[in-house]
Amino acid sequence: MRDSRFLKFAGLLWAVMMVFGWSGALSSASAAPFTVGPKKCQECHTDEAKVLSGTKHFTSLKTVHKDKRAKKIVKAIGDKRMKKSATCKMCHYTEAQKKPGAKRKIVAGPSCESCHGPASDWITIHNDYGKGVKRATETAAHKTERLQKAEAAGMVRPSKMFDVASNCMSCHGLAASGLDEKTAATMLDNGHPLNPDFELVEYSQGTVRHRFYPPDVTANKEMTAAEKSELYVVGQAAAFVSASAAVKKSSHEKYVAAQKKRIATATAALEAVKGSVPAAGALLADPSIANGRALADAVKGKDLSGAVGGMLPSKYK
Ligand code: HEC
Ligand code: HEC
Ligand code: HEC
Ligand code: HEC
Repeated sequence: MRDSRFLKFAGLLWAVMMVFGWSGALSSASAAPFTVGPKKCQECHTDEAKVLSGTKHFTSLKTVHKDKRAKKIVKAIGDKRMKKSATCKMCHYTEAQKKPGAKRKIVAGPSCESCHGPASDWITIHNDYGKGVKRATETAAHKTERLQKAEAAGMVRPSKMFDVASNCMSCHGLAASGLDEKTAATMLDNGHPLNPDFELVEYSQGTVRHRFYPPDVTANKEMTAAEKSELYVVGQAAAFVSASAAVKKSSHEKYVAAQKKRIATATAALEAVKGSVPAAGALLADPSIANGRALADAVKGKDLSGAVGGMLPSKYK
C-alpha cells in the first residue's frame, strides 16, 4: 500500500518536473489545483446551481453529521467529528480555498467540482471566448483550443463522461484511492452504507440532472432512450474499472462481496454490447482507465437500447 502510494507521488512529482523543470517543481507543487466552491460557479451557472440545491448532495451538509451512524463511524475510525475527519471529507464535503496556500474551509456537501474537477486552474479559461468575442462569434478553432486548455488544467467536461462517471464511482463505490482497506472495513463494520447497485442512469437522471444545452438553454432536457442506453454502458464501464481495482485492495468480506456484485452487473452490460462494440470486449479483458475511456468514445452517439434497453431503470433518484 505504502509503496504504491509513494510510487504514485513520485510519478506525480516527475510529471510536474517534466512540465515546469526542476526549479519550478517545488513552487508548483504548492500551487496544486484547488477547489473554489459552488458559490463561484453559481455566479454564472444559476440554473445548474438551482438544480444542485435540490439534491441530497446539497442538503446533506446540514444533516449527515447528525446521523447516529455518522457519530459511531467517526469514533470507530479514531476521529472526533465528521467535519474534522480527513476520511469523511474525502467524499462528504467540498472544501473551498480562496487562493493558493490559503486555509481550506468546508462550504458544501459534494458539489460542482466533486464531479467536474477542482477549478482553480480552469475556471477563468473554460468560458473565455477571447477579447470582445461572444459565444456566437467565437471561431471553432478557438473553442477547441479553449476547451482543450480547460481539460489540461483539470476540468472534467461532460463530454468526457467516463471521467465524470469515475468520480461518482469513486465515492459511491467506496473506492476512493485515498481510502485504505482498514478504514473502509471499519466503516462498513460500523454501519456505513455501500450500495453495489449504484447505477449512473438511475442516479443521474433524477434530482441531479442538469442538461441546459443549446438551443434552449433555459430547459433542463430529459435524455432520449438512446442517450440513456449510452450513458448506462458508460456508467457500467466506470463501475467495472472502479470495482476491479477496489476488489484487489481489500479482503474484507462485505467490501469484497459488494465489489464483486458491481463487477457482475457491469460484466453483463459489457457482454451485451461487445458484439457490436469491440471496445467492450477489450475492457472486459483488461479493466484499465484507458480501455474505459476508449469504450466511452466508441459508444458516443450510438443507440444501444437494443442491447441494454431492458437493463435501464424505470425510476430515478
Ligand atoms: C464567469 C462565468 C462562469 C463561471 C464563474 C463559471 N462558468 Fe462554467 N461556463 C461558463 C460559460 C459561459 C460556459 C459555456 C462555454 C461555452 O460556450 O463553451 C461554461 C461552461 C461550463 C461547463 C460545460 C463545458 C463543456 O464541456 O461544454 C461546465 C461543466 C462548467 N462550465 C462548469 C463550471 C463550474 C463547475 C464552475 C465553478 C467552479 C464554473 N463553470 C464557473 C461560465 C462560467
Ligand atoms: C469513499 C467515499 C466515502 C467516504 C470516505 C465516507 N463516506 Fe459516508 N457515504 C458515502 C456515500 C456515497 C454515501 C451514500 C451511500 C448510499 O446512500 O448509497 C454515504 C453515506 C453515509 C451515511 C448515511 C447517510 C444517509 O443519508 O443515509 C453516513 C452516516 C455516512 N456516510 C457517514 C460517513 C462518515 C462518518 C465518514 C467518515 C468516517 C464517511 N461517511 C466517509 C461515501 C463516503
Ligand atoms: C453529481 C455530479 C455533478 C455535480 C455535483 C454537478 N455536475 Fe455538472 N454535470 C454532471 C454531468 C453527469 C453532466 C452531463 C449532463 C449530460 O450531458 O447529460 C454535467 C453537465 C454540466 C454542464 C453542461 C450541461 C448544462 O447544464 O449546461 C454544466 C454547465 C455543468 N454541468 C455545470 C455544473 C455546475 C455549475 C455545478 C454546480 C452548481 C454542477 N455542474 C454540479 C455532473 C455533475
Ligand atoms: C465526492 C463524492 C461524491 C461524488 C463524486 C458523487 N457523489 Fe453522489 N453522494 C455522495 C454522498 C456522500 C451521498 C450521500 C449524502 C447523504 O446521504 O448525506 C450521495 C448521494 C447521492 C444521491 C442521493 C441518493 C439517495 O438515495 O437519495 C444521488 C442521486 C447521487 N449521490 C448521485 C450521484 C451521481 C450521479 C454522481 C456522479 C455523476 C455522484 N453522485 C457523485 C457523494 C458523492
